[in-house]
Amino acid sequence: MSAAVSPPARVALLGTGTVGSAVWARLAGWHGTPLGQRLRLVHAANSRLAWGNPDGLPLGTRDSLFQQAAQPGTLEAVDAALAGDGPRIVLDATASAVVADRHPHWLARGIHVVTACKLGQGTALARWQAIQSARAAGQAAYGDSATVGAGLPLLRTLRALQAGGDRIHAIAGVLSGSLAWLFNHYDGMQPFSGFVRQARDAGYTEPDPREDLSGEDVRRKLLILARAAGQVLEQDEVQVASLVPDALAALPRDALDAALPELDAPLRERFAEAYKRGEKLRFVARLQAGGVATVGLESLPAGHALAGGGGTDNRVAIWSDRYPEQPLVIQGPGAGAGVTAAGLLDDALAIQAAAAQ
Ligand SMILES: NC(=O)c1ccc[n+]([C@@H]2O[C@H](COP(=O)([O-])OP(=O)(O)OC[C@H]3O[C@@H](n4cnc5c(N)ncnc54)[C@H](OP(=O)(O)O)[C@@H]3O)[C@@H](O)[C@H]2O)c1
Repeated sequence: MSAAVSPPARVALLGTGTVGSAVWARLAGWHGTPLGQRLRLVHAANSRLAWGNPDGLPLGTRDSLFQQAAQPGTLEAVDAALAGDGPRIVLDATASAVVADRHPHWLARGIHVVTACKLGQGTALARWQAIQSARAAGQAAYGDSATVGAGLPLLRTLRALQAGGDRIHAIAGVLSGSLAWLFNHYDGMQPFSGFVRQARDAGYTEPDPREDLSGEDVRRKLLILARAAGQVLEQDEVQVASLVPDALAALPRDALDAALPELDAPLRERFAEAYKRGEKLRFVARLQAGGVATVGLESLPAGHALAGGGGTDNRVAIWSDRYPEQPLVIQGPGAGAGVTAAGLLDDALAIQAAAAQ
C-alpha cells in the first residue's frame, strides 16, 4: 500500500509558540497536496487553550481559529482527541516538563510522540529509561530529530552507523545554534551582552537565554547524543562550564536584561587571549570513549574541524571504527522555527509511512 492512499495520521500539536506556529503554517500550506493527505491536525493546544478539529477540516490561520473556537484544555483530553483510524501522533512543540513527563503514558498506549523538547531524553536518566521502556511496551515510535541540531541528520546518522555495525568512539560538536551565532558574531569590540539581546530578539535563544549561556541546553543535547551512541550517562556525568556568573544565574527573569552586561568583561578577556594566538572561541560539547563528557568554551585553531560554519550552524564531528582518524562532519543551521518544524514533520511523515507498510 502506498503512503499516499493509506489512512492519514491523526496529529495533536502541543505548543503554539515559535516552533508550534511554524508547524501549523507548514501543515496549513500542505492543504490539498499529497503531504497534506498524510497528516491530519485534529487537536492543538497551548498552556491556556485547546482547539479541536475532529473532522480534519482545512486549517485557517491559527490566530483566527483559536479566537473563535478554543477552550481551556487538559493533557488528558489529548488521548480522546486522537482516537480514530490511522496512526496517532502527539507533536510536542513545548518546553514543558509536564508534557515531557507524559511522553511515556502516550507511548505505552501506542501513541507515537514527535518532539522538539529535550526534557524527555536529555535530562534525568530515569525519564529517558521510562521513554525507552514505554516505546517498547506500546510499539510506538519516538521522533527526536528536532531535539538536537533542529532536524539536522545527527541522531539518525548515529543510529544508522551503529545499525551497520559501527562503534562510536567520540563525538565533538558545536550543538547550540544560539551560541554558534554568538561566537560567530562576537568580535571582542562590541559588548557580548548586545549580541545576546540580538540573538534573543531573533528567536535564536531559548525563551530564557541563560539556558543557552549556562550550557544546560548543550548538556541536554550531549546527553541525547551520548545515550543514542550507547553511553547511557546520568546528567551529572557531563561536566559543564557555564558562561553565566552566579549573580546573573540567581536573578529573576524580569531582572535579567539589565544585568546582562555582567557577561561582558570575562568574555572580552577570553576573546583577547584567543585572538593573540590566532584562534577562535567556540562553545563545544565533547563525548570521549568511556563516557567522559564535557561542555564549555574552547579556544580552537582557526582551521579546526569545529571552528568553521556561519550563522547558527551546528557542526558535529563523529569518530568511529569507520572514521577513526578523519571524523565524519555534519554541519548546517541548528536553530530556527522553520527548520525545527520541518524536522518535526519529517519524523511525523516517517511514522505515518511506516504504519502504512
Ligand atoms: N526555537 C528554536 O529554534 C528551537 C529549535 C529546536 C528545538 N526547540 C525546542 O522547541 C520547543 C518549543 O520552542 P519555542 O521556541 O517554540 O518555545 P515558545 O515559543 O516558548 O512556545 C512554547 C509553547 O508551549 C506551550 N506550552 C507550555 N506548556 C504547555 C502545556 N502544558 N500544554 C500545551 N502547550 C504548552 C506554550 O503555551 P503558551 O503560548 O500558553 O505559553 C507555548 O505555546 C522547546 O522545547 C525548544 O527547546 C526550539
